[in-house]
Amino acid sequence: MSTKEKINVSLLPEHVAIIMDGNGRWATSHGRPRIFGHKNGVTAVREVTEAAAELGIKYLTLYAFSTENWSRPRVEIDALMGLLLETVGNQLSTLQKNNIRLQTIGDIEQLPPKTKKALENAILQTKDNTRMCLILALNYSSRWEIVEAVKHISHKVKAGILKEEDINDEIFSAHLTTANIPDPELMIRTSGEYRISNYLLWQSAYTELYFTNVLWPDFRKEDFYNAILDYQGRERRFGKTGEQVAKKTITSI
Ligand code: FPP
Repeated sequence: MSTKEKINVSLLPEHVAIIMDGNGRWATSHGRPRIFGHKNGVTAVREVTEAAAELGIKYLTLYAFSTENWSRPRVEIDALMGLLLETVGNQLSTLQKNNIRLQTIGDIEQLPPKTKKALENAILQTKDNTRMCLILALNYSSRWEIVEAVKHISHKVKAGILKEEDINDEIFSAHLTTANIPDPELMIRTSGEYRISNYLLWQSAYTELYFTNVLWPDFRKEDFYNAILDYQGRERRFGKTGEQVAKKTITSI
């Protein structure tokens, strides 16, 4: 039985979020500049998108550029923005052919105009696609979006549109950039780092975390399947006891 065949398609996570890490180290290990790692990272992006769509996952979020990444050397930022522009342009027809919708989270206003325009075009062209939603986190950080949500909510309270006593988890979630996107059930981080790095902090309250030593440019479908299989072996308790969860499973059969 192949790894893919071992996956229980009726127990798939609806939303998988990935921290694509290790491009720089991969390039260094090949004696090449960092951007060589990013370029090869695009192959992994393609593989994972294809694997997720084939399995039937509905949302795939990739951390492509954090607000903190602006502090990298200018040459690397420019190369990443160029790569993004090129990839969005090259992959648009593939997204269309496979009925995949492109979305972004983060403040794309700050991206170079050409990159922003290419993204906006791809978002518009794919808006009616229904098979899977590919979400790129760009100029994104969780603390930024939480602060933005707080500002937005306080503005509404001040204007009398929202009552303070009505603010709850649901209302708060609806003011994040991920409004209308379910919370991820699984988060994968590559490259052997054990951090969440300001990524989907609110949304990952109950997310299962999966860490692998594989560097992002080497990440392939098989690695993705292994993460899904590992997730399917977890017991998700949401604060309940193991006994309560087991009982619920038995009675619901
Ligand atoms: C982290 O590796 C990777 C990034 C900050 C950028 C990810 C970008 C891509 C995979 C290419 C373009 C993406 C799309 C969606 C078209 P790192 O540079 O932090 O690696 P290191 O930790 O080894 O230095």
